[in-house]
Amino acid sequence: MWVSSMWWPVLFLCAAFGAVFGNEVTLPVSVKFGDGLLSFSKNTNGLFYTINEQDGLTVENSISTGESNVARNNQEYTLTECSTNEEACVEFIINDVNVILKKDLSNRASSVSHVVVNSSTDGVRIGACVELGDGVDWFGGPEAKYQLWPVQDAQWNYTAYYTKEDDAVAIAEPYWLSSQGTYLYVNPATSMFIDQNYLNEGSLCIYAENVTPYRERNYTSLEYWIGRYEDPRTAHEAAVEEFFAKPTDVPDERMIAQPVWSTWARYKIYVNDTIVRQYAQEILDNGFNHSQLEIDDFWETCYGSLTFNTSDEKFPDIKGLTDDLHDLGFRVTLWVHPFINVDCTEYYSIAESAGYFAKDVNGTILTTWWQGENASVIDFTNEAAVEWFTSRLTALQASAGIDSFKFDAGEASWAPEPAVLTGNVEESPSIYTYQFARALATFGNGIEVRTGWQTQDLAIFVRMLDKDTSWTFENGLPTLITTLLVMNLAGYGFVLPDMVGGNGYIDGVLVSTQYPSKELFIRWLQANTFMPSIQYSFVPWDYDNETVEICRTYTELHEAYAPTIIEAMNALVANGTPVNPPVWWLDPTNSEAYNISDEYLLGEVILVAPVVVEGAVTRDIFLPNGTWRDATYGTYDIYEGPTWIYDYPAPLEVLPYFVESSYWETLSAGSGAFLPSSSLTAIYTSAILALLIQLFN
Ligand SMILES: *[C@@H]1O[C@H](CO)[C@@H](O)[C@H](O)[C@H]1NC(C)=O
Ligand SMILES: *[C@@H]1O[C@H](CO)[C@@H](O)[C@H](O)[C@H]1NC(C)=O
Ligand SMILES: *[C@@H]1O[C@H](CO)[C@@H](O)[C@H](O)[C@H]1NC(C)=O
Ligand SMILES: *[C@@H]1O[C@H](CO)[C@@H](O)[C@H](O)[C@H]1NC(C)=O
Ligand SMILES: *[C@@H]1O[C@H](CO)[C@@H](O)[C@H](O)[C@H]1NC(C)=O
Ligand SMILES: *[C@@H]1O[C@H](CO)[C@@H](O)[C@H](O)[C@H]1NC(C)=O
Ligand SMILES: *[C@@H]1O[C@H](CO)[C@@H](O)[C@H](O)[C@H]1NC(C)=O
Ligand SMILES: *[C@@H]1O[C@H](CO)[C@@H](O)[C@H](O)[C@H]1NC(C)=O
Ligand SMILES: *[C@@H]1O[C@H](CO)[C@@H](O)[C@H](O)[C@H]1NC(C)=O
Ligand SMILES: *[C@@H]1O[C@H](CO)[C@@H](O)[C@H](O)[C@H]1NC(C)=O
Ligand SMILES: *[C@@H]1O[C@H](CO)[C@@H](O)[C@H](O)[C@H]1NC(C)=O
Repeated sequence: MWVSSMWWPVLFLCAAFGAVFGNEVTLPVSVKFGDGLLSFSKNTNGLFYTINEQDGLTVENSISTGESNVARNNQEYTLTECSTNEEACVEFIINDVNVILKKDLSNRASSVSHVVVNSSTDGVRIGACVELGDGVDWFGGPEAKYQLWPVQDAQWNYTAYYTKEDDAVAIAEPYWLSSQGTYLYVNPATSMFIDQNYLNEGSLCIYAENVTPYRERNYTSLEYWIGRYEDPRTAHEAAVEEFFAKPTDVPDERMIAQPVWSTWARYKIYVNDTIVRQYAQEILDNGFNHSQLEIDDFWETCYGSLTFNTSDEKFPDIKGLTDDLHDLGFRVTLWVHPFINVDCTEYYSIAESAGYFAKDVNGTILTTWWQGENASVIDFTNEAAVEWFTSRLTALQASAGIDSFKFDAGEASWAPEPAVLTGNVEESPSIYTYQFARALATFGNGIEVRTGWQTQDLAIFVRMLDKDTSWTFENGLPTLITTLLVMNLAGYGFVLPDMVGGNGYIDGVLVSTQYPSKELFIRWLQANTFMPSIQYSFVPWDYDNETVEICRTYTELHEAYAPTIIEAMNALVANGTPVNPPVWWLDPTNSEAYNISDEYLLGEVILVAPVVVEGAVTRDIFLPNGTWRDATYGTYDIYEGPTWIYDYPAPLEVLPYFVESSYWETLSAGSGAFLPSSSLTAIYTSAILALLIQLFN
């Protein structure tokens, strides 16, 4: 194990290419910058400057222009000192590339460097690379299909950093954090690309370049902050305070406590009145609770009509159906997407002639989505379009008895590119997502979206992008945890996990279905138990009675801990702290905690260690600093963390979890309502037996 407290990322910023560095420029060798050193070098790829920061937390000198280091014969170069008491600052211009470096000296416990590089030269690409470093773990970055945790081994091949369908980047906040307590935050209004482990192996590089999907601007700008703190938790708290909006409230509490039931994975597009009624009845007959029943794809006459198909084979009397479901105690929600297919002629032509579709620079409005080869997408940055869209939804709610909505898509990439959107050009195209989520959040805190960009303030659930029915890091069960952690680090703590067992797609074909195995289904639910909500589509009773019993148990356990989930959500509202943090959150200086990707916390009081490996019936568990009560088997044994428990027995029916000791005492002193009910005992009998066998072997 190699950890260096002296480690600090090296930045090289290369303003490369063409006109800028075509001329020979004589460079200064180095300039003192705060407590670090700024040095320049040049090679055939362009100009580089490097900031080498020493461990100088106590240094508070203002910037020296380092006159003695400046090559005076450089005509195209000027250096100015712009310091105040709070900031060390240096500005220099090389040809027309204007570089401003600022260093925050006001906070003695930290060191924040602020870098702005501006150029109005055409075709310029400005980059900054952070060396990921041996033995350093990195967290954050985008939501991704192949979701790792930590993320330093991820590969990104010079890719535009905005909300997009490709690689499942539905959340793209420009924020990374290292186990050394360093954060990198980039101005979201950047024509940003990232490259990791591709052009520069071992580095995370950010770039600004004015090419599609970004709109043309007459300058290129890269602005970022590097914050350095004693550990990742302190760094994250500082970053949240500085850059993230906190949610204004918590989402719908019934959606937290009781499962959402979606028709999607089980029925795909073959939904109708009969099927919905049958589904509802099965849920009740099997003794499960529900927050809502969601009617998913395909209920419309055509995609984008927002009109129920009232044929006999579909929904002949939707109001009658929702009335009956309401009588049974269900709320009814509806899948809605922002597209209109070209063959949905009546509605398409209204939106087209009114200019409601997102268009590219040439006025093209055609796009493609998973249920429409020829379609267009509503422009959510156009107020009139939003008004038209939302008023149709409101009318539909009234006429069809719909309580709330599941809003799909919403990533900026669905618009033809480069899209011409209303609003700040610098924020285009992700401003699409920003306005999408904001417009739809007006339907209340019982909605769900699946994308976010600078929308952490909204009191709504954000769903993980569709998960696949698999055991692998390629979008399978292990990524239920890693995606949870990444979303939380990006400030989105109201995570709606995708459906239990995944979507059951066969080879990515949306309308075919392959059930998850019993084992995968149960392990998936267990992993989901202490996440903010449970969403079913495949059902336990399609397996066997044991599955039903186990699933009922963990669904109940989730509900029993709903008050704890809400407490953690209130902490996010108040302080910006993650609802489901990684285990290092409670042990931020312990290097053993950093790379644990198969455990998570609920608030700071529950530690969850699900089995996510096929066939496994034991696992190793890391407990971070603190006193923990083993709640798994109801024995409440005490463990002092940090410690490892090796080969902890966890047969199929068992989810290992631990309760922080003082919280456990609070619960025990109370009504005990939070503690697992006695119905768990039966489930655990065989597990306890397994434990005994294990102990006596
Ligand atoms: C960079 O350029 C943009 C556009 O001209 C300007 O708005 C911004 O203030 C500049 N930043 C700095 C630090 O000069
Ligand atoms: C990145 O490039 C490498 C090498 O060309 C390739 O193997 C890999 O599939 C690419 N990854 C992505 C996500 O495009
Ligand atoms: C960019 O172009 C706009 C419009 O032509 C102009 O107002 C603005 O000053 C320009 N900005 C820069 C940094 O050149
Ligand atoms: C409604 O659904 C039925 C059955 O799938 C289909 O045949 C019919 O074309 C649809 N009706 C409309 C108006 O789209
Ligand atoms: C509803 O859909 C199911 C499955 O596709 C089908 O078997 C059934 O006939 C449909 N119900 C009606 C009333 O058409
Ligand atoms: C827009 O039209 C011009 C001229 O035909 C063409 O060169 C350009 O590629 C088009 N841009 C897009 C995004 O289609
Ligand atoms: C989409 O449009 C193209 C070009 O007009 C056409 O060839 C194709 O058949 C259309 N696809 C569908 C599903 O209608
Ligand atoms: C569950 O057990 C009941 C009897 O208690 C039996 O009727 C039913 O068929 C069983 N269901 C399954 C799915 O095994
Ligand atoms: C259903 O909800 C009730 C009341 O909140 C709760 O006591 C019960 O445990 C829940 N049952 C299941 C199977 O989740
Ligand atoms: C996690 O880090 C430890 C060192 O702290 C190392 O021994 C272990 O192999 C790492 N595990 C993984 C899965 O990378
Ligand atoms: C461990 O946690 C306790 C409080 O539970 C705290 O006082 C102590 O400083 C922590 N130790 C480390 C190494 O973080």
